[in-house]
Amino acid sequence: MAEVKASLICGVVAAFLSSAVLAFVEDLDDTFKDTRVNDIWLVDFYAPWCGYCKKLEPVWYDVGVELRSSGSPVRVGKMDATAYSGMASEFGVRGYPTIKLLKGDLAYNYKGPRTKDDIVEFANRVAGPAVRALPSKQMFEHMMKRHDVLFVYVGGESPLKEKYNDVASELIVYTYFFSASEDVLPESMSLPELPAVVVFKDGAYFTYDEYEDGSLSSWVNKERFQGYLQIDGFTLYELGETGKLVAIAVIDEKDPTEESGRLKALIQRVAKEYREHFNRDFQFGHMDGNDYINSLIMGEVTVPSVIILNTSNEQYFLPGEPIETMEQLVQFISGVLNGSAQAYGGDGIIQRIKRVAFDARSTIMSVFRSSPLLGCFLFGLPLGVISLMCYGICTAESDDGSDDMDALKREGLTDEEEEEEEERQRAAELEGPDEGEEEEDVGEKDPEEKKTD
Ligand SMILES: *[C@@H]1O[C@H](CO)[C@@H](O)[C@H](O)[C@H]1NC(C)=O
Ligand SMILES: *[C@@H]1O[C@H](CO)[C@@H](O)[C@H](O)[C@H]1NC(C)=O
Repeated sequence: MAEVKASLICGVVAAFLSSAVLAFVEDLDDTFKDTRVNDIWLVDFYAPWCGYCKKLEPVWYDVGVELRSSGSPVRVGKMDATAYSGMASEFGVRGYPTIKLLKGDLAYNYKGPRTKDDIVEFANRVAGPAVRALPSKQMFEHMMKRHDVLFVYVGGESPLKEKYNDVASELIVYTYFFSASEDVLPESMSLPELPAVVVFKDGAYFTYDEYEDGSLSSWVNKERFQGYLQIDGFTLYELGETGKLVAIAVIDEKDPTEESGRLKALIQRVAKEYREHFNRDFQFGHMDGNDYINSLIMGEVTVPSVIILNTSNEQYFLPGEPIETMEQLVQFISGVLNGSAQAYGGDGIIQRIKRVAFDARSTIMSVFRSSPLLGCFLFGLPLGVISLMCYGICTAESDDGSDDMDALKREGLTDEEEEEEEERQRAAELEGPDEGEEEEDVGEKDPEEKKTD
């Protein structure tokens, strides 16, 4: 009897402890589908073997703690998507980790940086109302300070407002949406008509025009970034989702000759002064260093220089000659726009084969860089053995014609491989041990992640 009692108490205590420990992040299973209905959930779908998932784990715990302690209604959970693969595929999980916010019938994918602050911000934004009211001038000014890009619906009830609500509930994953009456806005503003949808950014405001801008949702999608940005691999991918081409000044922030600074200022000016001409089709920005772009185009761009990327088909454009003046830059961009500029790269079969070879080469080089001995062992030893074998086969006397053929084939193969190997080693020696690896990882990681929705 006493034993039963003790184990009962033990059980209760253990249950209490584990629920207290796990409370911030709940472990989800098959029953989740039925139990989730009335709550808003932020879920990490992970695979036990995936490295990025393991990296996310402590961050995820912090997210759970933060959302709980801030009184958010969002519940945080994680689900082993390999153990409950049926559930995972029902939620459209195709990569690991996949982060989703589930709210009623709607599921929102999180694709931003995997830091606590970014994820918590996302959860609060998406879990809240799709359109938030700005009831006062102070509130409006406060939000203007906090957001670089601010969408506001101005006016009363209208069909446009309904459309705005629909767009907001879909695109809240990207940005905030507000509504206000006209007297909340600065007096200097004059809207030609009400109701209106306005975006405040780049120190100005721009009004949605149904006839010129097409659907409200595509307009919001195109306007949700500042006109000019510092771009990294991640931003580049996000920018690609707007369907715009991305014009980038590839520069060196520490360039002592100030050539980089000049080019950056040039592209910044074009972004602002030629907004009317280019804004619909181009996003502008600069990138520090050319590592990322190089691995993207599988080539080498000079620093500083300008490159225009079409992220939807992986084509890119380079100016015929170095850009010195505003006119040259505008000419170059116009040429891309009217289709007269020469396009490179692309996503054709040859480019894809080149990509596979390029990635394999980068992997091998990074092995050699981080550990030359291991590299020699992994790639050199088998090659050596194969060469010896071939040498043996070739020099051995043989009457059989088919044997000769075989030997020839094999010899041909290894010759090529050896050449490549030598080239790799040369390249590895030339490039030195200290650069690149991180970027290569990032470059390969981002596109993968983007495929998850
Ligand atoms: C960019 O790629 C898309 C998708 O293939 C294509 O429709 C578009 O014309 C391209 N833009 C330019 C300027 O080449
Ligand atoms: C395209 O634009 C470039 C640069 O402005 C111009 O030189 C060229 O004549 C244009 N080509 C066509 C076919 O319009």
